[in-house]
Amino acid sequence: MSHNTFSQTLKWAIKDGISLVHQVLGRPHNRTRGQIQRLEAAMTDSEIEHQRISLIVRATNTPESTVRTFADRAPRQMMVSEHFQGHTMGLRDSTTLHTLICACDVERCVETGVAAGASSAIILQELERRQRGRLVSIDIQSVLANHYGELIPESHRGRWELRIQREKPLLPMVLEELASIDFFLHDSRHVLRHMMWEYELAWRYLRPGGCLASHDVIMTTAFDDFYRKYRFEIADGGIIGAVGFWIKKK
Ligand SMILES: C[S@@+](CC[C@H](N)C(=O)[O-])C[C@H]1O[C@@H](n2cnc3c(N)ncnc32)[C@H](O)[C@@H]1O
Repeated sequence: MSHNTFSQTLKWAIKDGISLVHQVLGRPHNRTRGQIQRLEAAMTDSEIEHQRISLIVRATNTPESTVRTFADRAPRQMMVSEHFQGHTMGLRDSTTLHTLICACDVERCVETGVAAGASSAIILQELERRQRGRLVSIDIQSVLANHYGELIPESHRGRWELRIQREKPLLPMVLEELASIDFFLHDSRHVLRHMMWEYELAWRYLRPGGCLASHDVIMTTAFDDFYRKYRFEIADGGIIGAVGFWIKKK
């Protein structure tokens, strides 16, 4: 075994050990693949559709017929290059994000995790339709950096700013620059500590009535943990498939 493989194996063993201790003690943890598969299998398309409409109607105070129109307008397909196959938000969650962003009054948007840019394209499409607002997206430096956001049409790029992170996390700086935001989407590194760090940081800059959303909320307990900690500041929200959102109290 090479030195690198050995140290990687050792790191995994330590992480698994810590996760096991957390589970035994009932502390927050990253979910196992089996738990995630069981959660995903339990959700049918029609259940998700029902949840999407009812939750977004209630949380954003938008008439049901309007929310249904938003959902019907969601993109039906996205052609992703081979670079990002398997790393792009699927149609079910894209439809939820599209419906949510249409129902929220947002201008200053921030997201982490761009890849092909399915989520970015959805947010930008709505900003462009309204002719106001901008999106700042953060991703990390990699050989694929030149391809980030490939799904974003040229016509929508005027409202988009891509920030590439090298060593230091960029999120604190971006939020500080914007001072206040209307919408935050986490879709970067889905591990408990990182998700919680992004949620808590973004929440501090989210204006009252703003929306914090996250993809892949079923990967860890961070989204539920966040609710337990901030429930007195949360007006409404919940989970639809693998997308969760919380609306901040006014
Ligand atoms: C699941 S993909 C994002 C999918 C994208 N939102 C979409 O809808 O197509 C996750 C992305 O997060 C990026 N990423 C990983 N760690 C990150 C970090 N610490 N900060 C920002 N982005 C990160 C990866 O480089 C990858 O491009």
